[in-house]
Amino acid sequence: MKLKAWKSALALALKKTPRTASEFAKLPEHVAIIMDGNGRWAKKHHLNVSRGHRQGTENLREIIRHTDDLGIRALSLYAFSTENWNRSEEEVGALMQLMLDFFTSEIDELDAKNVRILILGDKSRMPERQREVLREAEKRTEKNTGLQLNIAINYGSRAEIVKATREIAVMVKNGTIRPEEITEETISDHLYTAGQKDVDLMIRTSGEQRLSNFLLYQNAYAEFVFPEVLWPDFSVHEYDLALEAYGRRDRRFGGR
Ligand code: IPE
Ligand code: IPE
Ligand code: MG
Repeated sequence: MKLKAWKSALALALKKTPRTASEFAKLPEHVAIIMDGNGRWAKKHHLNVSRGHRQGTENLREIIRHTDDLGIRALSLYAFSTENWNRSEEEVGALMQLMLDFFTSEIDELDAKNVRILILGDKSRMPERQREVLREAEKRTEKNTGLQLNIAINYGSRAEIVKATREIAVMVKNGTIRPEEITEETISDHLYTAGQKDVDLMIRTSGEQRLSNFLLYQNAYAEFVFPEVLWPDFSVHEYDLALEAYGRRDRRFGGR
């Protein structure tokens, strides 16, 4: 790393106030976050796992606000995977309740800030009350033009690709499209994130370094940052450090 880059990294590590957009070399347009480590946070604090999940929603408001303040166009948050149904009934129940609480308490402010909410995932498998609240949030904000906030709930990337494939197969069957006309865009257009830019920066907290079935197609050329902190400890300062790391990356997309 160049001396100048080291100096700015050091200055940032010491400065804990939130950064402004002009302080970054470059910013991503689309950030995705795998919010991991709630369970380990709870264990560390000798608390119930549900308490860890609750703590994991405390910083969300600040992270979303900072994303918006920096002018980042899209934020995708992994909240519940198709595999997370394998957890205990009690834990799944706590997570379902937290979703309701989050949308109920945040929707007014998000809407007022012109945030557009989109749920990535299969809502039809969600309990009725949750389904309603998620649909309402999407509907209420669908015409908003500010930050695109994608929240992945009952989401699995492979299931998303299967869904896209089936839709395209029906189009072929109907004669709407010929197989040779199918492009990468055709597939993108049938993913939940249709019309959005691919992920530029992917953050996974808690030190785990895997995708866990999140946005496989959209992450093709994303930069990855793996902060060690557990999700409930992921502050705006930690976020700035991840964005700073992104700013130092040299993206080549296969070129020179
Ligand atoms: C992430 O935290 C939140 C969800 C998966 C819903 P975890 O609950 O996976 O936390 P760890 O990985 O057990 O620490
Ligand atoms: C991924 O985390 C899902 C979310 C953060 C919502 P997990 O904790 O479920 O992933 P694995 O099981 O460690 O891969
Ligand atoms: Mg985990």
